[in-house]
Amino acid sequence: MPESPIRKLVPYAEAAIEAGNEVIHLNIGQPDIETPEVALNAIKNFDKKVIEYSHSAGFESYRKGLAKYYRGKGIDVDHNDIIVTNGGSEAILFAMMTCFNPEDEVIVPEPFYANYNAFALEAGVILRPITTYLKDSYALPPIEDFRELINDRTRGILICNPGNPTGYLYNQEELETLRKIVLAHDLFLFADEVYREFCYDGAEHYSILSLEGLENHANHCRFRIKAL
Ligand SMILES: Cc1ncc(COP(=O)(O)O)c(C=O)c1O
Repeated sequence: MPESPIRKLVPYAEAAIEAGNEVIHLNIGQPDIETPEVALNAIKNFDKKVIEYSHSAGFESYRKGLAKYYRGKGIDVDHNDIIVTNGGSEAILFAMMTCFNPEDEVIVPEPFYANYNAFALEAGVILRPITTYLKDSYALPPIEDFRELINDRTRGILICNPGNPTGYLYNQEELETLRKIVLAHDLFLFADEVYREFCYDGAEHYSILSLEGLENHANHCRFRIKAL
């Protein structure tokens, strides 16, 4: 397994602090948003004598709450279609292991979140990067670039929307392009939307869950449980 390239920096930072230097951590995206009081209170007021197993898919009340969140965004999702995981990493890993076989190829716009490499390695999946450029603000590459990479081992496309590390937000037209590609080649479309609430200057987030006809193709990772 490769070590996380982000955490690779930690021993250097620790050594620098030990040597008396001030270190400003830019390697990890620790939010400075306060944890909602309701979540903190739920931990503080935990009154059960035994911490039990929960439902394998996650508490029903919580999944219903998530479905309500989506309906509030105009996306009709049933709570039975939601599985709660220990964060985004586990969700992506489970999705890869469920949908792909070893040696399957997945196209991913780069630069991408570095840990996708580790998740793919664990699942035996081969990532095929498709380069995006600063001069285009890291927009989705033209459809022809995808076609060039697609072969008979290609099984999916993975996007991060909004993108880490690029911050790029895919527009409706780009998602339509992806819809066309995945339907034409019978691929899975994975969207890592952990940052969907982080859209600025009035920009609107479009989820792959709002695309028509992808019920059997779309796989979506949204919630980082530890942040809720
Ligand atoms: C784009 C992206 N996806 C997934 C994750 C992993 O999320 P978690 O820490 O909830 O496993 C991160 C964490 O930084 C991330 O930036």
